[in-house]
Amino acid sequence: MSISEAQVENIKFENFIETKENEDLFDKTKRLDKILKSDILTGYEALGMLSLNKLSSIVKIKEKDGFCHDVIMLGSNSYLNVANHPRVINTAKKALEKYGLGMGAVSNYAGICELHKILERKIANFYNCEDCILFPSGYGANVGIISALCSKNDIIINDSANHASIMDGCRLSGAQIKIYPHNNMRYLEKILDNIPDSTTGRLIITDGVFSMDGDIAKLDKITDLAQKYRCKVMVDDAHGIGVVGKRGRGSASYYDVLDKIDLNVAMLSKAPGGIGGFCAAKREIVQYLRIYSRTYFFSTALNASTTAGLIEVFNLFEKDMAGRKELLKKTKYLKDKLDKAGFNTGNPQSAIIPVMIYDEEKLFQLYQELRYEGVYVNIVTYPATRRKECRLRLCVMKDLAYCELDRAADIIIKKGIEYGIIKNEP
Ligand SMILES: Cc1ncc(COP(=O)(O)O)c(C=O)c1O
Repeated sequence: MSISEAQVENIKFENFIETKENEDLFDKTKRLDKILKSDILTGYEALGMLSLNKLSSIVKIKEKDGFCHDVIMLGSNSYLNVANHPRVINTAKKALEKYGLGMGAVSNYAGICELHKILERKIANFYNCEDCILFPSGYGANVGIISALCSKNDIIINDSANHASIMDGCRLSGAQIKIYPHNNMRYLEKILDNIPDSTTGRLIITDGVFSMDGDIAKLDKITDLAQKYRCKVMVDDAHGIGVVGKRGRGSASYYDVLDKIDLNVAMLSKAPGGIGGFCAAKREIVQYLRIYSRTYFFSTALNASTTAGLIEVFNLFEKDMAGRKELLKKTKYLKDKLDKAGFNTGNPQSAIIPVMIYDEEKLFQLYQELRYEGVYVNIVTYPATRRKECRLRLCVMKDLAYCELDRAADIIIKKGIEYGIIKNEP
Protein backbone atom coordinates (compact mmCIF):
# COMPACT_ATOMS: atom_id res chain seq x y z
CA MET A 1 0.00 0.00 0.00
CA SER A 2 2.38 2.67 -1.16
CA ILE A 3 1.31 6.04 -2.52
CA SER A 4 3.69 7.76 -4.90
CA GLU A 5 4.23 11.47 -5.33
CA ALA A 6 2.57 11.28 -8.76
CA GLN A 7 -0.51 9.64 -7.24
CA VAL A 8 -0.76 12.31 -4.56
CA GLU A 9 -0.53 14.92 -7.34
CA ASN A 10 -3.48 13.19 -9.08
CA ILE A 11 -5.78 13.23 -6.07
CA LYS A 12 -5.40 16.93 -5.31
CA PHE A 13 -8.77 18.45 -4.46
CA GLU A 14 -8.43 21.39 -6.84
CA ASN A 15 -7.91 19.11 -9.88
CA PHE A 16 -11.60 18.30 -9.95
CA ILE A 17 -13.22 21.68 -9.43
CA GLU A 18 -13.18 23.18 -12.89
CA THR A 19 -14.46 21.87 -16.20
CA LYS A 20 -11.41 21.60 -18.46
CA GLU A 21 -11.24 22.55 -22.12
CA ASN A 22 -13.39 20.23 -24.26
CA GLU A 23 -14.87 18.51 -21.22
CA ASP A 24 -18.60 18.40 -20.65
CA LEU A 25 -19.99 19.37 -17.27
CA PHE A 26 -19.76 15.87 -15.79
CA ASP A 27 -16.38 14.75 -17.18
CA LYS A 28 -14.64 15.90 -14.02
CA THR A 29 -16.81 13.49 -12.01
CA LYS A 30 -15.56 10.65 -14.21
CA ARG A 31 -11.94 11.74 -13.70
CA LEU A 32 -12.48 11.69 -9.95
CA ASP A 33 -14.25 8.32 -10.12
CA LYS A 34 -11.24 6.81 -11.87
CA ILE A 35 -8.93 7.98 -9.10
CA LEU A 36 -11.20 6.79 -6.32
CA LYS A 37 -11.58 3.37 -7.97
CA SER A 38 -7.81 2.98 -8.26
CA ASP A 39 -7.43 2.14 -4.54
CA ILE A 40 -4.99 4.94 -3.87
CA LEU A 41 -7.35 5.95 -1.12
CA THR A 42 -8.88 2.91 0.49
CA GLY A 43 -11.63 4.51 2.58
CA TYR A 44 -15.31 4.96 1.86
CA GLU A 45 -15.96 8.32 0.10
CA ALA A 46 -12.16 8.57 -0.25
CA LEU A 47 -11.24 8.87 3.42
CA GLY A 48 -14.11 7.72 5.57
CA MET A 49 -15.07 4.42 7.14
CA LEU A 50 -18.28 2.56 7.88
CA SER A 51 -19.06 2.14 11.58
CA LEU A 52 -20.66 -1.15 12.51
CA ASN A 53 -21.62 -0.20 16.04
CA LYS A 54 -22.38 2.92 18.06
CA LEU A 55 -19.67 5.40 18.86
CA SER A 56 -17.35 4.44 21.70
CA SER A 57 -13.61 4.41 22.34
CA ILE A 58 -13.32 1.30 20.16
CA VAL A 59 -15.44 1.12 17.03
CA LYS A 60 -15.82 -1.83 14.68
CA ILE A 61 -15.41 -0.55 11.14
CA LYS A 62 -15.83 -2.00 7.68
CA GLU A 63 -13.26 -1.20 5.00
CA LYS A 64 -14.18 -0.78 1.35
CA ASP A 65 -12.78 -4.26 0.58
CA GLY A 66 -15.12 -5.80 3.18
CA PHE A 67 -12.49 -6.25 5.90
CA CYS A 68 -14.05 -5.60 9.33
CA HIS A 69 -11.90 -4.68 12.32
CA ASP A 70 -11.73 -2.67 15.53
CA VAL A 71 -10.13 0.77 15.69
CA ILE A 72 -9.32 3.07 18.58
CA MET A 73 -11.46 6.11 17.81
CA LEU A 74 -9.50 9.35 17.55
CA GLY A 75 -11.54 10.79 14.71
CA SER A 76 -14.86 11.80 16.23
CA ASN A 77 -15.96 15.27 17.31
CA SER A 78 -18.34 13.75 19.85
CA TYR A 79 -15.63 14.36 22.45
CA LEU A 80 -17.78 13.60 25.47
CA ASN A 81 -19.81 10.85 23.84
CA VAL A 82 -22.97 12.25 25.43
CA ALA A 83 -24.77 11.02 22.31
CA ASN A 84 -24.83 7.66 24.08
CA HIS A 85 -25.52 8.87 27.61
CA PRO A 86 -28.48 6.83 28.99
CA ARG A 87 -30.43 9.94 30.03
CA VAL A 88 -29.95 11.52 26.61
CA ILE A 89 -31.04 8.36 24.80
CA ASN A 90 -34.12 7.86 27.02
CA THR A 91 -35.32 11.42 26.58
CA ALA A 92 -34.75 11.29 22.82
CA LYS A 93 -36.66 7.98 22.60
CA LYS A 94 -39.68 9.44 24.39
CA ALA A 95 -39.73 12.44 22.03
CA LEU A 96 -39.45 10.12 19.03
CA GLU A 97 -42.56 8.26 20.25
CA LYS A 98 -44.44 11.49 20.92
CA TYR A 99 -43.50 13.58 17.86
CA GLY A 100 -42.33 11.04 15.26
CA LEU A 101 -39.28 11.15 13.01
CA GLY A 102 -39.24 14.63 11.51
CA MET A 103 -40.95 17.99 12.02
CA GLY A 104 -42.29 18.23 8.46
CA ALA A 105 -41.95 22.00 8.12
CA VAL A 106 -39.64 24.93 8.65
CA SER A 107 -39.61 26.57 12.07
CA ASN A 108 -41.56 29.65 11.01
CA TYR A 109 -44.44 27.46 9.81
CA ALA A 110 -45.46 24.21 11.51
CA GLY A 111 -41.95 22.93 12.28
CA ILE A 112 -41.44 23.52 15.99
CA CYS A 113 -42.78 22.02 19.19
CA GLU A 114 -42.35 22.99 22.82
CA LEU A 115 -39.02 21.13 22.95
CA HIS A 116 -37.41 23.62 20.56
CA LYS A 117 -38.48 26.48 22.82
CA ILE A 118 -37.10 24.71 25.90
CA LEU A 119 -33.76 24.09 24.20
CA GLU A 120 -33.53 27.69 22.96
CA ARG A 121 -34.18 29.00 26.49
CA LYS A 122 -31.63 26.59 27.99
CA ILE A 123 -28.92 27.66 25.55
CA ALA A 124 -29.75 31.35 26.00
CA ASN A 125 -29.40 30.93 29.78
CA PHE A 126 -26.17 28.94 29.38
CA TYR A 127 -24.65 31.96 27.59
CA ASN A 128 -26.41 34.57 29.72
CA CYS A 129 -28.13 35.88 26.61
CA GLU A 130 -31.65 37.10 26.01
CA ASP A 131 -32.58 34.61 23.30
CA CYS A 132 -31.32 31.85 21.02
CA ILE A 133 -32.17 30.58 17.54
CA LEU A 134 -31.69 26.93 16.49
CA PHE A 135 -30.56 25.94 13.02
CA PRO A 136 -30.93 22.43 11.57
CA SER A 137 -27.25 22.37 10.58
CA GLY A 138 -24.09 23.97 11.93
CA TYR A 139 -22.84 24.81 8.48
CA GLY A 140 -26.18 26.42 7.72
CA ALA A 141 -26.07 28.41 10.96
CA ASN A 142 -22.89 30.22 9.95
CA VAL A 143 -23.99 30.78 6.38
CA GLY A 144 -27.44 31.99 7.44
CA ILE A 145 -26.35 34.26 10.29
CA ILE A 146 -23.57 36.04 8.42
CA SER A 147 -25.46 36.47 5.17
CA ALA A 148 -28.51 37.78 7.04
CA LEU A 149 -26.67 40.38 9.08
CA CYS A 150 -24.03 41.58 6.62
CA SER A 151 -24.32 43.04 3.13
CA LYS A 152 -22.41 45.14 0.63
CA ASN A 153 -21.94 48.21 2.83
CA ASP A 154 -20.35 46.18 5.64
CA ILE A 155 -16.90 44.79 6.34
CA ILE A 156 -16.15 41.39 7.88
CA ILE A 157 -12.75 40.66 9.38
CA ASN A 158 -11.82 36.96 9.61
CA ASP A 159 -9.05 34.87 11.13
CA SER A 160 -7.37 32.95 8.28
CA ALA A 161 -8.13 29.64 10.04
CA ASN A 162 -11.88 30.23 10.28
CA HIS A 163 -14.12 27.37 9.23
CA ALA A 164 -15.25 27.04 5.60
CA SER A 165 -18.88 27.70 6.54
CA ILE A 166 -17.89 31.13 7.89
CA MET A 167 -16.03 31.93 4.70
CA ASP A 168 -19.01 30.78 2.61
CA GLY A 169 -21.38 32.95 4.66
CA CYS A 170 -19.08 35.93 4.18
CA ARG A 171 -18.95 35.43 0.41
CA LEU A 172 -22.70 35.05 0.18
CA SER A 173 -23.27 38.24 2.19
CA GLY A 174 -21.59 40.44 -0.41
CA ALA A 175 -19.73 42.32 2.36
CA GLN A 176 -16.11 43.35 2.00
CA ILE A 177 -13.95 40.55 3.45
CA LYS A 178 -10.60 41.03 5.21
CA ILE A 179 -8.46 38.22 6.57
CA TYR A 180 -5.72 38.36 9.22
CA PRO A 181 -3.10 35.61 9.69
CA HIS A 182 -4.14 33.05 12.29
CA ASN A 183 -4.33 34.65 15.76
CA ASN A 184 -2.15 37.60 14.67
CA MET A 185 -3.51 40.48 16.75
CA ARG A 186 -1.06 43.05 15.37
CA TYR A 187 -2.27 42.35 11.86
CA LEU A 188 -5.90 42.45 13.00
CA GLU A 189 -5.35 45.88 14.49
CA LYS A 190 -3.68 47.05 11.29
CA ILE A 191 -6.77 46.04 9.32
CA LEU A 192 -9.09 47.72 11.82
CA ASP A 193 -7.04 50.89 11.79
CA ASN A 194 -7.39 51.14 8.01
CA ILE A 195 -11.17 50.82 7.86
CA PRO A 196 -12.67 54.08 6.62
CA ASP A 197 -14.84 55.88 9.17
CA SER A 198 -17.72 55.71 6.70
CA THR A 199 -17.83 51.89 7.00
CA THR A 200 -19.85 51.53 10.17
CA GLY A 201 -21.14 47.97 9.75
CA ARG A 202 -18.13 46.06 11.12
CA LEU A 203 -17.97 42.45 12.25
CA ILE A 204 -14.99 40.42 13.49
CA ILE A 205 -15.59 36.67 13.15
CA THR A 206 -13.43 33.98 14.66
CA ASP A 207 -13.63 30.31 15.53
CA GLY A 208 -13.48 29.95 19.33
CA VAL A 209 -11.46 26.72 19.34
CA PHE A 210 -9.83 26.39 15.91
CA SER A 211 -10.86 23.11 14.37
CA MET A 212 -7.53 22.28 12.74
CA ASP A 213 -5.12 23.44 15.49
CA GLY A 214 -7.15 23.02 18.68
CA ASP A 215 -5.98 26.41 20.00
CA ILE A 216 -8.31 29.12 21.30
CA ALA A 217 -8.80 32.53 19.67
CA LYS A 218 -7.36 35.41 21.72
CA LEU A 219 -10.78 36.65 22.63
CA ASP A 220 -9.52 38.94 25.39
CA LYS A 221 -7.54 40.95 22.81
CA ILE A 222 -10.14 40.60 20.06
CA THR A 223 -12.92 42.01 22.27
CA ASP A 224 -10.66 44.91 23.36
CA LEU A 225 -9.88 45.74 19.75
CA ALA A 226 -13.54 45.40 18.80
CA GLN A 227 -14.44 47.96 21.44
CA LYS A 228 -11.68 50.33 20.33
CA TYR A 229 -12.66 50.13 16.65
CA ARG A 230 -16.45 49.89 17.12
CA CYS A 231 -16.84 46.36 15.75
CA LYS A 232 -19.29 43.63 16.63
CA VAL A 233 -17.90 40.17 17.44
CA MET A 234 -19.12 36.74 16.36
CA VAL A 235 -17.54 33.56 17.77
CA ASP A 236 -18.11 30.12 16.25
CA ASP A 237 -17.33 27.84 19.16
CA ALA A 238 -18.15 24.54 17.46
CA HIS A 239 -15.22 22.80 19.17
CA GLY A 240 -15.21 24.81 22.40
CA ILE A 241 -18.74 24.27 23.65
CA GLY A 242 -18.90 21.65 26.39
CA VAL A 243 -15.12 21.32 26.42
CA VAL A 244 -13.40 24.57 27.42
CA GLY A 245 -14.26 27.43 29.77
CA LYS A 246 -16.17 27.37 33.03
CA ARG A 247 -18.72 24.52 32.98
CA GLY A 248 -17.91 24.09 29.30
CA ARG A 249 -19.36 27.46 28.34
CA GLY A 250 -16.70 27.78 25.68
CA SER A 251 -13.86 29.97 24.54
CA ALA A 252 -15.32 33.34 25.57
CA SER A 253 -15.91 31.99 29.07
CA TYR A 254 -12.29 30.74 29.09
CA TYR A 255 -11.21 34.40 28.77
CA ASP A 256 -14.07 35.68 30.89
CA VAL A 257 -15.43 37.87 28.08
CA LEU A 258 -18.78 36.19 27.42
CA ASP A 259 -20.60 39.49 27.95
CA LYS A 260 -18.54 41.09 25.16
CA ILE A 261 -19.52 38.64 22.43
CA ASP A 262 -22.41 39.83 20.28
CA LEU A 263 -23.13 36.58 18.44
CA ASN A 264 -22.45 33.36 20.38
CA VAL A 265 -22.58 30.71 17.70
CA ALA A 266 -21.82 27.03 18.27
CA MET A 267 -22.69 23.68 16.82
CA LEU A 268 -24.81 21.01 18.46
CA SER A 269 -23.00 18.35 16.45
CA LYS A 270 -19.62 18.12 18.22
CA ALA A 271 -19.38 17.78 22.03
CA PRO A 272 -23.20 18.12 22.40
CA GLY A 273 -23.43 14.93 20.33
CA GLY A 274 -26.44 15.82 18.17
CA ILE A 275 -26.80 17.90 15.03
CA GLY A 276 -27.54 21.54 14.25
CA GLY A 277 -26.23 24.91 15.32
CA PHE A 278 -27.40 27.99 17.19
CA CYS A 279 -26.84 31.65 17.83
CA ALA A 280 -27.39 33.09 21.31
CA ALA A 281 -27.64 36.87 21.30
CA LYS A 282 -29.80 39.89 22.18
CA ARG A 283 -33.54 39.37 21.70
CA GLU A 284 -33.94 41.70 18.72
CA ILE A 285 -30.95 40.16 16.90
CA VAL A 286 -32.39 36.65 17.27
CA GLN A 287 -35.78 37.92 16.11
CA TYR A 288 -34.15 39.45 13.03
CA LEU A 289 -32.35 36.18 12.26
CA ARG A 290 -35.61 34.22 12.47
CA ILE A 291 -36.88 36.25 9.53
CA TYR A 292 -33.77 37.04 7.48
CA SER A 293 -31.60 33.89 7.87
CA ARG A 294 -32.45 31.97 4.77
CA THR A 295 -30.94 28.74 6.08
CA TYR A 296 -33.44 29.02 8.97
CA PHE A 297 -36.47 30.30 7.12
CA PHE A 298 -36.16 27.87 4.22
CA SER A 299 -34.95 24.72 5.99
CA THR A 300 -36.92 22.15 8.00
CA ALA A 301 -36.48 22.40 11.77
CA LEU A 302 -34.40 20.06 13.93
CA ASN A 303 -36.26 16.85 14.69
CA ALA A 304 -37.90 16.53 18.09
CA SER A 305 -35.91 13.52 19.33
CA THR A 306 -32.56 15.24 18.74
CA THR A 307 -33.90 18.43 20.32
CA ALA A 308 -35.06 16.51 23.39
CA GLY A 309 -31.73 14.68 23.68
CA LEU A 310 -29.93 18.02 23.47
CA ILE A 311 -32.01 19.41 26.35
CA GLU A 312 -30.59 16.57 28.49
CA VAL A 313 -27.09 17.34 27.20
CA PHE A 314 -27.41 20.95 28.40
CA ASN A 315 -28.68 19.65 31.75
CA LEU A 316 -25.39 17.74 31.99
CA PHE A 317 -23.37 20.76 30.86
CA GLU A 318 -25.06 23.05 33.40
CA LYS A 319 -24.02 20.73 36.23
CA ASP A 320 -20.59 20.16 34.65
CA MET A 321 -21.38 16.44 34.62
CA ALA A 322 -20.49 15.59 31.01
CA GLY A 323 -16.87 14.67 31.78
CA ARG A 324 -15.07 17.76 30.45
CA LYS A 325 -12.23 17.63 33.01
CA GLU A 326 -11.53 13.96 32.39
CA LEU A 327 -11.47 14.67 28.64
CA LEU A 328 -8.88 17.44 28.99
CA LYS A 329 -6.76 15.27 31.30
CA LYS A 330 -6.74 12.45 28.76
CA THR A 331 -5.94 14.85 25.92
CA LYS A 332 -2.91 16.13 27.83
CA TYR A 333 -1.83 12.54 28.57
CA LEU A 334 -1.84 11.60 24.88
CA LYS A 335 -0.25 14.87 23.75
CA ASP A 336 2.57 14.52 26.32
CA LYS A 337 3.36 11.03 25.02
CA LEU A 338 3.52 12.21 21.41
CA ASP A 339 5.57 15.30 22.33
CA LYS A 340 8.02 13.15 24.26
CA ALA A 341 8.47 10.94 21.20
CA GLY A 342 9.41 14.03 19.16
CA PHE A 343 6.24 14.95 17.26
CA ASN A 344 5.26 18.57 16.81
CA THR A 345 1.75 18.74 18.22
CA GLY A 346 1.36 22.53 18.34
CA ASN A 347 -0.27 24.28 21.28
CA PRO A 348 -3.79 22.93 21.53
CA GLN A 349 -6.01 24.06 24.41
CA SER A 350 -8.95 21.75 23.69
CA ALA A 351 -9.54 18.08 22.85
CA ILE A 352 -7.99 18.41 19.38
CA ILE A 353 -4.32 17.44 18.90
CA PRO A 354 -2.68 18.31 15.58
CA VAL A 355 0.23 15.98 14.77
CA MET A 356 2.28 17.77 12.15
CA ILE A 357 3.52 15.61 9.24
CA TYR A 358 4.51 18.32 6.71
CA ASP A 359 4.54 15.86 3.78
CA GLU A 360 1.30 15.03 1.96
CA GLU A 361 2.58 11.81 0.44
CA LYS A 362 3.51 10.45 3.86
CA LEU A 363 0.28 11.80 5.33
CA PHE A 364 -2.02 9.76 3.07
CA GLN A 365 0.04 6.66 3.56
CA LEU A 366 0.29 7.05 7.31
CA TYR A 367 -3.42 7.63 7.64
CA GLN A 368 -4.23 4.37 5.89
CA GLU A 369 -1.61 2.34 7.72
CA LEU A 370 -2.71 3.68 11.09
CA ARG A 371 -6.27 2.69 10.29
CA TYR A 372 -5.26 -0.83 9.30
CA GLU A 373 -3.14 -1.08 12.48
CA GLY A 374 -6.18 -0.12 14.54
CA VAL A 375 -6.09 3.66 15.09
CA TYR A 376 -8.62 5.88 13.39
CA VAL A 377 -7.51 9.51 13.00
CA ASN A 378 -8.44 12.28 10.59
CA ILE A 379 -6.05 13.88 8.17
CA VAL A 380 -5.96 17.53 7.29
CA THR A 381 -4.41 19.14 4.27
CA TYR A 382 -5.36 21.68 1.60
CA PRO A 383 -7.92 23.29 1.42
CA ALA A 384 -8.43 23.07 5.21
CA THR A 385 -4.78 24.05 5.86
CA ARG A 386 -1.77 24.89 3.74
CA ARG A 387 -0.23 21.78 2.13
CA LYS A 388 3.09 22.22 3.83
CA GLU A 389 1.27 22.30 7.17
CA CYS A 390 -0.55 19.01 6.57
CA ARG A 391 -1.19 16.93 9.64
CA LEU A 392 -2.98 14.12 11.41
CA ARG A 393 -5.80 15.49 13.53
CA LEU A 394 -6.52 13.56 16.69
CA CYS A 395 -9.80 14.14 18.49
CA VAL A 396 -9.69 12.69 21.96
CA MET A 397 -12.82 11.17 23.44
CA LYS A 398 -13.53 11.07 27.15
CA ASP A 399 -14.40 7.37 27.02
CA LEU A 400 -10.93 6.32 25.85
CA ALA A 401 -9.23 4.24 28.57
CA TYR A 402 -5.62 5.10 29.42
CA CYS A 403 -4.51 1.72 28.05
CA GLU A 404 -6.22 2.60 24.74
CA LEU A 405 -4.43 5.94 24.66
CA ASP A 406 -1.15 4.11 25.34
CA ARG A 407 -1.79 1.69 22.52
CA ALA A 408 -2.77 4.46 20.09
CA ALA A 409 0.36 6.45 21.01
CA ASP A 410 2.59 3.36 20.57
CA ILE A 411 1.20 2.73 17.08
CA ILE A 412 1.47 6.38 16.00
CA ILE A 413 5.06 6.59 17.34
CA LYS A 414 6.04 3.32 15.61
CA LYS A 415 4.70 4.60 12.29
CA GLY A 416 6.19 8.06 12.85
CA ILE A 417 9.63 6.46 13.18
CA GLU A 418 9.07 4.21 10.15
CA TYR A 419 8.18 7.27 8.03
CA GLY A 420 11.06 9.35 9.34
CA ILE A 421 8.82 11.95 10.93
CA ILE A 422 10.41 11.39 14.32
CA LYS A 423 13.72 9.81 15.24
CA ASN A 424 14.14 6.52 17.03
CA GLU A 425 15.81 7.77 20.25
CA PRO A 426 17.15 4.94 22.39
C1 LIG B 1 -15.63 25.49 13.40
C2 LIG B 1 -16.77 24.80 12.72
N1 LIG B 1 -17.84 25.51 12.38
C3 LIG B 1 -18.89 24.94 11.75
C4 LIG B 1 -18.91 23.60 11.44
C5 LIG B 1 -20.09 23.01 10.74
O1 LIG B 1 -20.84 22.30 11.68
P1 LIG B 1 -21.77 21.07 11.30
O2 LIG B 1 -20.86 19.90 11.01
O3 LIG B 1 -22.57 20.87 12.52
O4 LIG B 1 -22.57 21.45 10.12
C6 LIG B 1 -17.81 22.81 11.77
C7 LIG B 1 -17.79 21.37 11.43
O5 LIG B 1 -16.84 20.76 11.12
C8 LIG B 1 -16.70 23.42 12.43
O6 LIG B 1 -15.62 22.71 12.74
